[in-house]
Amino acid sequence: MGIYRIVRPLIFALGPARGRRWALKALKVTNIGMFRAIGRELYRRTDPSLESQLWGLRFENPIGLAAGFDVDGAAPLAWAVLGFGFAELGTVTARPQPGWNARRSHRIPAALALTYSASCPNIGARYIAERLTYWHRKKVLGEIALGINLGRSPGATFEKAVQDILTSFQWFYPLLDYFVINIIPPGRNSVFAISDPTELAAVLGRLQAVNERGKPILLKLFDPPEIAESQELIAVSLKGKIQGIIVTSVSLDGATASARAMAGAPPGHRLGGRPLAAPSLEALRTIYRQVQGQVPLISGGGVFTAADVYARIRSGAHLVQLYTALVYRGPSLLRKMCRGLALLLDRDGLITMTEAIGVDVT
Ligand SMILES: Cc1cc2nc3c(=O)[nH]c(=O)nc-3n(C[C@H](O)[C@H](O)[C@H](O)COP(=O)(O)O)c2cc1C
Repeated sequence: MGIYRIVRPLIFALGPARGRRWALKALKVTNIGMFRAIGRELYRRTDPSLESQLWGLRFENPIGLAAGFDVDGAAPLAWAVLGFGFAELGTVTARPQPGWNARRSHRIPAALALTYSASCPNIGARYIAERLTYWHRKKVLGEIALGINLGRSPGATFEKAVQDILTSFQWFYPLLDYFVINIIPPGRNSVFAISDPTELAAVLGRLQAVNERGKPILLKLFDPPEIAESQELIAVSLKGKIQGIIVTSVSLDGATASARAMAGAPPGHRLGGRPLAAPSLEALRTIYRQVQGQVPLISGGGVFTAADVYARIRSGAHLVQLYTALVYRGPSLLRKMCRGLALLLDRDGLITMTEAIGVDVT
């Protein structure tokens, strides 16, 4: 962890929401070119074996930042500097959602986990798009693939929610590389995800109608263990020409119940971190079998080490995403993971990571 060993207690003393805000403020140093160059030297590690191409985009390594950390695109240049292969901003809604600077969240260091409220506070798509336009004009945005997670505005009627997602999509379209819609099995409680297959078909139809350059639209599938319920949503999505699925287990019970209890998290809080590792790996394998290579998968939930990344790739993921590990392990995490992953590939006699995709799933 290096210097992060010293800095982490200071960040942790601030509480989760303020800690994240201060971390983002510190990362804004990457707005200055000289600091980006120094940061890259310190943190970014490349290895040809980790490179891949997907959706016409180049990924220098398969490890991305998951949604929820840089919700408002506050430090969009930082993620390449820290060594990520791609990064996802958001979840954003067309209109600002109040409380954006105080998302309720708890840390559970003993379980290497975080909990967070199911709300979706953000400063609104228009303002974030203006921020990104500034960097786009300076031609400094394209170092890694950047995507955005688009949510429906809480409480909006369905027609209004579709219009909101469409509006945000159009604002971000010229600026970003991929787009994500959250879906959740029917009956689950989420203010910003879609759970109705008919609604999902309508949203995808409207987005694809204006997707002139065929940019990738992906689904983030929450709580995938409920496979029976998810099947229809996946079928509708494939019909709606989605180009990938992010499989993240944030199940509110089962394997994660003890961590939740440990945190004293209020009911309905979601969980990120280590307790998700086993259920997320299982969910990935299930969805991989179900989708049978029709679209690539991105795996998230409890990824902390190079061995975790390798296991996800061998279980069917093209790419992985993480959030909680960055909070607990700090900025040198990616350098270590990339070095470790290259060594694992070398150990197994593989020239590129893509040769390992799905080899453990029968
Ligand atoms: C504090 C916190 C806030 C999050 N906010 C969002 C969000 O706004 N949108 C979203 O799609 N996922 C959100 N997530 C979920 C993460 O993107 C990720 O899928 C999940 O935490 C599992 O990955 P991890 O174990 O590496 O943290 C959030 C997670 C955490 C811990």
